[in-house]
Amino acid sequence: MPWVLGIESSCDETAAAIVSHEGEVAADVVHSQVELHAPYGGVVPELASRDHLRACGPVVREALARAGKRLDEVDAIAVTNRPGLIGALLVGVQIAKGLAFASGRPLIGVDHLVGHLLAPFVRRVGKDGALSQTPEFPYVALLVSGGHTALYRVDAPLAASIREIGATRDDAAGEAFDKVAKLLGLGYPGGPIVDRLAQLGDASRTKLKAPMAQRGSLEFSFSGLKTQVAELVARTPPESEAAIADLCASFQATATKVLIDKLIAAALLEGVRDVVVTGGVAANSELRRRAEAAATRAGLRLTVPPFASCTDNAAMIAFAGACRFVAGERDDAALIASSQTLLPRRTRRGPASARS
Ligand code: KG4
Ligand code: ZN
Repeated sequence: MPWVLGIESSCDETAAAIVSHEGEVAADVVHSQVELHAPYGGVVPELASRDHLRACGPVVREALARAGKRLDEVDAIAVTNRPGLIGALLVGVQIAKGLAFASGRPLIGVDHLVGHLLAPFVRRVGKDGALSQTPEFPYVALLVSGGHTALYRVDAPLAASIREIGATRDDAAGEAFDKVAKLLGLGYPGGPIVDRLAQLGDASRTKLKAPMAQRGSLEFSFSGLKTQVAELVARTPPESEAAIADLCASFQATATKVLIDKLIAAALLEGVRDVVVTGGVAANSELRRRAEAAATRAGLRLTVPPFASCTDNAAMIAFAGACRFVAGERDDAALIASSQTLLPRRTRRGPASARS
């Protein structure tokens, strides 16, 4: 059974993991830069690259030590080479090239989005001692993170068998959570704080208009929703904790409803039985609740990977790399880093009027 070393440095996590083609995890190390970027309220690319340079070597060594393996005992070296911050990606890619050259092991580039979409196959043991659930192909996945929000049909574990069927035209859902938290002076990253406050608030106090809610469209838009909150805050600044919680509840209810409505619509349209919700925003309590209720109503089987597989990690990259390795796919020292995904886009960013 092949074992793959995966390296991830596309944004603000430096991570290394050793995972088998069966999804078994021998080591999974994540160094987060969240505290480094928190004073700026967002990821500062230059700081991210510098911190990846500091952390990447030690993180890889730690993963090998935890797995009890030498570098020449893994079968391939996989690395996220797209999409992401270019300076951040370059650090992981160059380190992976060096390790592949030194060990004679094949180098395999992985699209970060493919990693997120295959994350449910990384087998993790839950608190109850049971292995995490895996979906069956084909499935429709909602990928919701700080950088990406899109729906995909996944027919097999290779990029060529993954098709985007709808995406955001502007902000990602996580970005909208973070911006709303910033508007309300709540700190960074805002998603978990908005989630916690929303549970104390009353969503019916403020009516927000759901963006791109029309039936038949699988596209999303979150910048208008954020603007609605900004205008409300400018007009009547929320002065009590309760008023802030109410606003969080309204925003969260509107954002999560549109995400789950479209996930279910996409699954029915594609005629699949399995649906997956993945990415950092999959931690959101209301999103999970709505996904479970809606999937049950529609007779669909829902898989939400454990939190460690939803946020950026290298285990999903190692697994996606193992799938490419088994399929005979290889890269070499010419592997480039790119800010763009390999998965063809159906949804253009920007307003409809700006389309060519
Ligand atoms: O997948 P991730 O760790 O990194 C990216 O690839 O972007 O996602 C981070 C995003 C952030 O925007 C964060 O605010 C959001 O996920 N997030 C949440 C929650 N936990 C994390 N958003 C809403 N509710 C949460 N509980
Ligand atoms: Zn990600």
